[in-house]
Amino acid sequence: MTEPVTVTHALGSYPVYVEAGALARLPAIASHHLAGLRSAMIADDTVYQLYLERKLGPGDQWRGEALTFPAGEASKSREWWARLTDGLLERGYGRDSGIIALGGGVAGDLAGFVAATYMRGVPCIQVPTTLLAMLDASVGGKTGVDAPQGKNLIGAFHPPVAVVADPAVLGTLPEREFRSGLAEAVKHGLIADRDYFDWIGREADPLGRRDLATLTRLVRRSVEIKAEVVGADEREDGRRAILNAGHTVAHALERVTDYRLSHGEAVALGLVAECELARLLGMASAEVRTAVEALLQRLGLPLRYAGTLSPGQVTEAMRSDKKNRNARIRFALPRAVGEMHSAEGWTADAPESRIREALAAII
Ligand SMILES: NC(=O)c1ccc[n+]([C@@H]2O[C@H](COP(=O)([O-])OP(=O)(O)OC[C@H]3O[C@@H](n4cnc5c(N)ncnc54)[C@H](O)[C@@H]3O)[C@@H](O)[C@H]2O)c1
Ligand SMILES: [Zn+2]
Repeated sequence: MTEPVTVTHALGSYPVYVEAGALARLPAIASHHLAGLRSAMIADDTVYQLYLERKLGPGDQWRGEALTFPAGEASKSREWWARLTDGLLERGYGRDSGIIALGGGVAGDLAGFVAATYMRGVPCIQVPTTLLAMLDASVGGKTGVDAPQGKNLIGAFHPPVAVVADPAVLGTLPEREFRSGLAEAVKHGLIADRDYFDWIGREADPLGRRDLATLTRLVRRSVEIKAEVVGADEREDGRRAILNAGHTVAHALERVTDYRLSHGEAVALGLVAECELARLLGMASAEVRTAVEALLQRLGLPLRYAGTLSPGQVTEAMRSDKKNRNARIRFALPRAVGEMHSAEGWTADAPESRIREALAAII
């Protein structure tokens, strides 16, 4: 058993267990972190079938109650929040409940939001099963659901009491989902750790083969970086904004393509465009973009959008983002690989002409 990574936040701290085989220890971890509580698992049905019904040995079997929802973003809705909370109410769960969120980022956000709101908030253990959820979504305490007007518009900060990340489950992840998660690891290297960025490049082959030891190191280092950044800053007003590197462009691309790009593909393109923007604004040298492109390419991530889009469509999507209402479009931009620009706070705005020029690099 290796030491967990500790994440600190305004109200306390929690461990992130990153370990091959950790899922088999879930019953023990749950009885420790949800001691004395009646726990309910809320799980993505695909993952539940793959891991809880079949793969664990009889001694390791999850024996508690489980509520499942259909895999996919469409379930991250107020409707599923209502069905799941109704399910808990019908089963008589009270204030002494604990929730275990099993699945990718959708399960984490949806079950986390159920936990945040049920009886005004009950403890939650996050058990991320996609690479994206392990190294990004499960750490940081953001939970929520989507609305027809946009993604993640209804939600709450509700840090988990523990996170259990078992990289062994990544073996069954569809290839596109797997690569999507690697884009966030590239982002972590870019924003905070040049050595990690270079290590990812050197280990691209074992990572591509999903070598378990290499994946475990990847998840662990990314979790450490995210923990370090969110630790000092649980709400998004300070340095935490650097985690949005690549994401101003990525969110706009996801919306204009009607989510045909995976999140990680959009992040890869967003990182390239925002490195180019940093160059155009005189904040970073051209080598930053070159290094990011080389690494993304080694990992099989896109550098250019394959369809037809205009820079104007993408800037319009940034402007109409519900979360940017009445605010200027802001970017978290690099200064160098491993270091973010912070002269005017951790984000900067840019003239629209420069934004369009930067977008021309990827579309
Ligand atoms: N809270 C946060 O800080 C945060 C951060 C980033 C993303 N998110 C959210 O995360 C969501 C995306 O998460 P995601 O990419 O994990 O998507 P997801 O949860 O939809 O999972 C993707 C697919 O992979 C399947 N899957 C999951 N684990 C598997 C496994 N081990 N083997 C085989 N199949 C498996 C799922 O059933 C699903 O079909 C978005 O809703 C996004 O808004 C939240
Ligand atoms: Zn992301």
